[in-house]
Amino acid sequence: MKKVYIETYGCQMNVADTEVVFSILGAEGFGRTEDIAQADVIMANTCSVRDNAEQRIWGRIEQFNFHRKNRPGVVVGILGCMAERLGEALLESGKVDIVAGPDAYRSLPRLIAAASQGHPQADVLLSREETYGDIAPVRLDKNGVSAFISIMRGCNNVCSYCVVPYTRGAERSRDWKTIVREACRCAADGYKEITLLGQNVDSYRYEDLDFAGLLARVAEAVPALRIRFSTSNPQDISDAVLETMASHANICRHIHLPVQSGSDRMLEKMRRRYTRAWYLERVAKIRSLMPDCAITTDVIAGFCSETEEDHRDTLSLFEEVGFDAAFMFYYSERPGTLAARKYPDDVDLPTKTRRLEEIIAVQNRLSLESNRRDLGKTFQVLVEGPSKRNPDELCGRNSQNKMCVWPDTAHKAGDLVDVTVLSCTQATLRCELA
Ligand code: SAH
Ligand code: SF4
Ligand code: F3S
Repeated sequence: MKKVYIETYGCQMNVADTEVVFSILGAEGFGRTEDIAQADVIMANTCSVRDNAEQRIWGRIEQFNFHRKNRPGVVVGILGCMAERLGEALLESGKVDIVAGPDAYRSLPRLIAAASQGHPQADVLLSREETYGDIAPVRLDKNGVSAFISIMRGCNNVCSYCVVPYTRGAERSRDWKTIVREACRCAADGYKEITLLGQNVDSYRYEDLDFAGLLARVAEAVPALRIRFSTSNPQDISDAVLETMASHANICRHIHLPVQSGSDRMLEKMRRRYTRAWYLERVAKIRSLMPDCAITTDVIAGFCSETEEDHRDTLSLFEEVGFDAAFMFYYSERPGTLAARKYPDDVDLPTKTRRLEEIIAVQNRLSLESNRRDLGKTFQVLVEGPSKRNPDELCGRNSQNKMCVWPDTAHKAGDLVDVTVLSCTQATLRCELA
């Protein structure tokens, strides 16, 4: 039996896709290995969202070639967004035997067979229909607690900085019946939490069912499971979605709501279809319906022509919202995007990094303040497993997605336990059993 090894980079959608790939290959008799030295097929499921993500993959391709040279017959494959973006050019490097874009995974058995015969192959056709809706993913979560369910693919938004619409193609939603079926399957298999995934979950639509409707159906189909979802787009997150969350106790109190910038001038240039005021109104609405809901975000520092004033708008927006956590990046120009074609990447690197550090400093303080507000509170936490540092401690997340750690030798992964917060850092709540 041929063994396949896959490293996964990038977002959660790639993790979900790797699970689909293992399923497709498993059906054709391929086994899975976590030991690269045992693998007949070595692949990376890649990300193109920033240049450093791609640079890292080139480093890995060099490593993969060490195995490819030492063990004749080993084939190296690149999957995912970088495969889509670079296509045949990856084959021309001579270091890669298989290139498969995000909609081409059903071709992998054929591509691997050809590559094993010495014929490098690429398939980067994007599809308008492919959702892999019929495929039962091979779950990779080691604890068997939390599962990803992809509810849509692609993106129709064309934010000017973003490569995703080019690497993932047009937006399409998966048949809700296959989503509900997969959720029920997760429950039957002992999973305790599912995360519904899409680049813009609020624009989910299958026949006449929108995201609020889907969320309600899933939450009601698996009442014992926690439901999470990502990513919400500020322009699309509807009152109906918020009301559905508020009326279902098993939908977690956390919304990831990427803002990207606090400056209206930047937002317009980024082609985000909302303003600072709109964003703040959505935050106010979330908090009025669910006062205990965590709000996290993504932000880009140093986008084209960003001034100090624009940057201060971002800092002040962070203060105004008081995010619970954030993913923070500096702008990385991506070839082929609207911004790359239209706007010079004119904020120099020292300025970009300085602005990013200023945002990080503010957010570190906000994260700590957010955690301090939880001191003394009791939360229900889903146990993920032993904490990293101490085998006599368990860790897990509360509904707000905050990481909790507490001394405990009585419970195990998958249990729901109540803990009370005793102290905190900006990253963790230290607790005791309630
Ligand atoms: N669909 C999600 C974002 C997916 S990409 C949304 O619209 O919110 C994840 C994050 O990467 C983005 O939110 C953005 O903050 C960041 N990002 C995307 N393109 C980038 C670029 N060219 N440079 C730096 N960061 C980028
Ligand atoms: Fe990229 Fe914008 Fe689509 Fe998000 S919504 S994936 S940032 S184009
Ligand atoms: Fe990266 Fe592709 Fe996800 S570019 S962020 S892996 S959709």
